[in-house]
Amino acid sequence: MIYMSSGEKDVSLDELIEKLNYDLEWEYAAAIQYIQHHSTISGAQYNNIRDELAVHANEEIQHAIQLADQIEYLGGDPTIKVEEIKTSDNSKEMLEQDLEGERDAIRRYKKRIRWAESLEEYATAEAIRKILVTEQEHEMDLMDALDL
Ligand SMILES: [Fe+2]
Ligand SMILES: [Fe+2]
Repeated sequence: MIYMSSGEKDVSLDELIEKLNYDLEWEYAAAIQYIQHHSTISGAQYNNIRDELAVHANEEIQHAIQLADQIEYLGGDPTIKVEEIKTSDNSKEMLEQDLEGERDAIRRYKKRIRWAESLEEYATAEAIRKILVTEQEHEMDLMDALDL
């Protein structure tokens, strides 16, 4: 097993694969959460974001596919486990749940990019960078809708 310094701690390929599988669980959950929130959110002020949530759902599915492909490439076994899905009767609260999920994803992906690079898995790092760009767009869409 190869260990290399990531600047924060030594990370192994096995650990990277394990955490990418954790990220994959959250991508599945995000897609389902966005589909449900898209369908149930109400209020004229949320007309624009309602459409956008359906776009997000599709993009989270694409992220899941990209992560699963990277996990497979690295020698892992892509998970079928789904993380916790959050919802509410309150439309604003649903958007806050979505925003929290995006911010958590952004934190995790920044870390994964550093880890992948420390293991010289540059293509994996590049794939995650592209995912990160979309997550930041999702974050901004939600902040706009929440007037933040
Ligand atoms: Fe995502
Ligand atoms: Fe996202």
